[in-house]
Formats: sequence, structure tokens, C-alpha cells
Amino acid sequence: MLALIPALNCSQLWSLCPSQCKPPRIIRTRTPVVRLEAPHHCSTMSEEAFVTLATSDSYAKGAMVLGQSLRNHNTTRKLVALVGAHVTECCIEAMKSIFDEVSLVNVMDSEDTANLALMKRPDLGVTLTKLHCWTLTQYSKCVFMDADTMVLSNIDELFERGELSAAPDPGWPDCFNSGVFVFRPSNETHEKLLAFCSENGSFDGGDQGILNSFFNTWATADISKHLPFIYNLSSIAIYSYLPAFKHYGHNAKVVHFLGQVKPWNYSYDQQKGEVKGHSVAQQPGHLHPDYLLLWWQLYAKAVAPLLQTAYGDAPFISGFVEHKEHEDGAHQASPVSPPEPIKISSEERKKRWEAGRSTTWGTTHLPTLNANSTHS
Ligand code: UDP
Ligand code: GLC
Ligand code: MN
Repeated sequence: MLALIPALNCSQLWSLCPSQCKPPRIIRTRTPVVRLEAPHHCSTMSEEAFVTLATSDSYAKGAMVLGQSLRNHNTTRKLVALVGAHVTECCIEAMKSIFDEVSLVNVMDSEDTANLALMKRPDLGVTLTKLHCWTLTQYSKCVFMDADTMVLSNIDELFERGELSAAPDPGWPDCFNSGVFVFRPSNETHEKLLAFCSENGSFDGGDQGILNSFFNTWATADISKHLPFIYNLSSIAIYSYLPAFKHYGHNAKVVHFLGQVKPWNYSYDQQKGEVKGHSVAQQPGHLHPDYLLLWWQLYAKAVAPLLQTAYGDAPFISGFVEHKEHEDGAHQASPVSPPEPIKISSEERKKRWEAGRSTTWGTTHLPTLNANSTHS
């Protein structure tokens, strides 16, 4: 059903453009099963969408957790996932239950090994594929979100911002981080971006380098285009400025698991409600245990069951720890029923935060989000 499309590098892609550069094929989906009722409708709202990207089944898991987190917080906007041809059909099937549109796109790869090596992320050449989000011209405005982000509250107010709005990158704050950004779909901008990319390349080998060079007045021109950091709180920032995280962290609206290690690289014990293999080291790049747990709880509750249905009897990597010795000594997968997710209001979260309930790790006290909750 899905044609395989080879990965193209920038110049190969540009050689096909603009005349043969087709917009992504749109796979329209039926009404999502887990969709929440929108509180109200107005015509402009239906023309706006949150967009994410997954070129592999692993990133697709992240995309689904993100989509579900947006639904749980009652977004009134559409949800769109761009997928590469390597995402398996079963995975796409599961995605269709969460997203309004799952759209197949050509994977673009910068193959810029030198710059990607500087970031120690050889895998990020394919992030150029993100640029295809500008072709979603059926929407008047969109918010792109990396598949390794998760929302903690409703963020529909982002649609009040103009192109290109984004939060500062924690590594170089005069650059914006391209994990969360507001943009206006336009075939013209898409073509300009691809041309820019083929002429200049990307200084980091990925989309963030291109986008910062292209929207190069972001740092100075218009403060309304600077999203507060709480709309893109990257894990890397938590440990590089812990006092700020302690002070402002409870306001976070979007968590970004930026860096080499992603939540889906761990495994999860459903019975104990524990993430496995997460060390207690506090260093940049380390994921905050509470956000990591929240990610897995969402995955276990809302995403894994969809994948299970889509895969049927075919095996798939659930990420769950398998244990259980039966009387006959046979191993069996852990029970399907996941732990209940923690449901606390942001008020309550703030209260708990301020009450100073903290976890001791080494010598530092770290604020936790899920203070008194149980999840067994
Ligand atoms: N991405 C993808 N497949 C990959 C790598 C990246 O689909 O192999 C997409 C995905 O949406 C991801 C985004 O590109 O969230 C940016 O990559 P990543 O989040 O890994 O970069 P980081 O934020 O860690 O720098
Ligand atoms: C960044 C961003 C990510 C982007 C990557 C490559 O670290 O978080 O969204 O895809 O760099 O440019
Ligand atoms: Mn990311």
C-alpha cells in the first residue's frame, strides 16, 4: 500500500524540484478512536494543526505519545504526522487512531557527516525531512513539534503567534531550537527552503541549522517570536541550570527529550510502574525521571494498546519488561493492563512543587512532579 521512496539528499531533491516536487501523499484517516470532543468549533481552528515527523517506528512511538498528550489536554486543533517510508504499516495503522492525518513524505538526508559529527548525532541528517511541513497548505497555520516532545498542558495559544516563532536553543540561545516552532505552510516558502538548503547546506547538518540561517532575524527582530522556554523545556537545560529549573520548572508546558537518549530507549516494568535502566547521574542530557515516567505511563496506557491491536499476533517491540515465571516455568509477557496515569492539576503540581518535596540524588535535591502519586 505504501510505496517505498528512497532517501534523497538535498541536491538530489532539489534536482527534482520544483517542477516534479510533489506535495506529500495524504492518507486521510477516519475519526480517531481516542479523540476528545472539542469544546467548541470555529472555522479558523479547523485550519490549524499540530505537526510532527517520524521516519522510523521508534520515533513513531514518540510521535504517538506526543499526539496523545495533545489530545489529553483537549487541543482543538488537528493533528498531523509526517512519516517516512520506513515506518511500518502496522505502526501507521496505530498512528491513524491518534492523528487526523498521516502523511507519507520523501525522506531527505543531508548526509553531512562532518557537521553531524560535531553534534555527535550522525543520525540527524534525516531531520531535513521536517522541511516538508511547509507543504501542508490545507492549514493556515501550524505548530511543528519534534516526536521527542510531550505536552504537559494545553498549548493552543501558540497559534496566536506568527511565523517563525520558537524558543531559544539551550546550547546557543541566539539560535532557536527547532523542536517546537510556529509556521505558516506555503509552497513558496518550501521551495525557497529547499533551494536555500541546496545552495548553502546546513551548519549543523540538520533542519535547525537551515531554519536558523533562513529565518535569520529571529534573534533580534521581534520578541513576540521568542517563545518562552517553558514551551520547549529540553532535558539538557534541566541539569545545566538546576536552580532555574527548580524555580520555573513547574510552569513547563512542553518537555523536549532532546539528545541522544530517548524515552523509548529504556524499558518499562508495567507491574511496578518503573522505568528500567535509568541511572541517577545528574548531567546534561540526562532525562528527568518524572518526565520519563510520565512518557512511559502515557505510552503504556494509550499507545501500546493501539500497537498491540495493529500488530495482532505479529511480534513487535513493546518496550515492556517481560517477567513472570509460571508454575510450569514458562516465561510470559507481563500483563497488558498498564498503570493508571497520574492525574494532577497544574495548581496541585505547583503546590507540591512549592512544598519542596524532593528526591535525593547524590547531594542535590531535585524537585519531582509526581510527589505523592502511586502507580503500581
Ligand atoms: N527524526 C526522525 N527520525 C530520525 C531522527 C529524527 O523522524 O531518525 C525526527 C523526529 O521528529 C525527531 C526530530 O526529527 O524528534 C529531531 O530529531 P531529534 O529529536 O532526535 O533531535 P534532538 O531534538 O535530540 O536534537
Ligand atoms: C536540534 C533540535 C532538533 C533538530 C536537530 C537538527 O537539536 O532539537 O529538533 O532536528 O537539532 O538540526
Ligand atoms: Mn528533539
